[in-house]
Amino acid sequence: MQAHRIGILSGGGDCAGINPAIKWVVKTALDERLQRERGLRYEVVGIRDGWRGLLEVTTMPLDQEIVRTWDRYGGTMLGTSRTNPGNPENDRTQTVLDNIEKLGLSAVIAIGGDDTLSVAYRLHQAGIDIVCIPKTIDKDLPETDYTLGFETAVNVITEEIDRLRTTAGSHQRIFVVETMGRHSGWLALEGGESSGAFIILIPECDFVPENIYRLVREGRHNGARYNIIVAAEGAKPVGGAEFVRESGLDAFGHKKLGGIAETLAREIERATGLETRSVNLSHLQRGGAPCAYDRRMGRYFGIAAVDLVTASDFGKMVCLKNGRITACPLECVIGRTSFVDVATQYDAERYNGRRTILGG
Ligand code: F6P
Repeated sequence: MQAHRIGILSGGGDCAGINPAIKWVVKTALDERLQRERGLRYEVVGIRDGWRGLLEVTTMPLDQEIVRTWDRYGGTMLGTSRTNPGNPENDRTQTVLDNIEKLGLSAVIAIGGDDTLSVAYRLHQAGIDIVCIPKTIDKDLPETDYTLGFETAVNVITEEIDRLRTTAGSHQRIFVVETMGRHSGWLALEGGESSGAFIILIPECDFVPENIYRLVREGRHNGARYNIIVAAEGAKPVGGAEFVRESGLDAFGHKKLGGIAETLAREIERATGLETRSVNLSHLQRGGAPCAYDRRMGRYFGIAAVDLVTASDFGKMVCLKNGRITACPLECVIGRTSFVDVATQYDAERYNGRRTILGG
């Protein structure tokens, strides 16, 4: 039986959950019983460092023994990059197409967020048989209720805030904790809810600084010794702009966000006279071993991706929808973002998760 060669890569920011997905792509594709049942034989080749690996032709062999323990580890064993072969200033899409042919890949599985998926979609339109697996701690991809890495990042936020609570309480301080989340507030909202934060600021709802000062004063008046405020990096004051840590744009044209916690902490201390500190959780949220949910979801997404390849159902992203693993066309994902619905999921007066769930 002739072997079909699948190439697999991970692009964009790393996170926990990618390695479990790679492991289960490899295990499912190379499973001997499934090969017999399918009447198809696969080989899997790892492409290094995202799309850069298809520009520079850097690959690594993958087999069941190599990936056996990968689901326990964070990051991505294949490496990743924010390389954009379709960068309008230097479009190298043709080189990628030539190298896919040179490598003899009959299908490509790309694990990524919006940027990686936009490249995948372009390649699919150019005739490449491609399947995608969603990952981003921001959980901002549409058409899926889950993206790999999110739950581990929420666990990190919860653990770190638990740690901050003891020191905040001892000193009666306010802590402003910055999370990732460029366009969408899922990470700040669900991390803030998990850790019981007093205030949660998200990009979907611009905040009025005076309201924060008032809420903090009220909290203290009602007996709070300290306050935890969680702010997504993309949150901004009414009439203001996002906080930028570094000028310039990345290869996909995104601003490099950061700094909201530090600025807000300074402003809160100035306005309320209460001692305030800031912590940017930054890349800690992307680090560490995948939590149980990311291991399981990586497994299911990896298996589903191979199912799509076997069915020649290309140009799709595997997804979780209403508790079921399914798939949707890439064109439904590209250029769209999943946002927190402020009307039903956020309390814009208390700047926190909504306290009505089954009510109107
Ligand atoms: O992958 C998305 C993200 O988590 C954003 O929330 C954040 O702005 C970005 O990654 C930062 O990534 P890096 O510093 O690796 O470019």
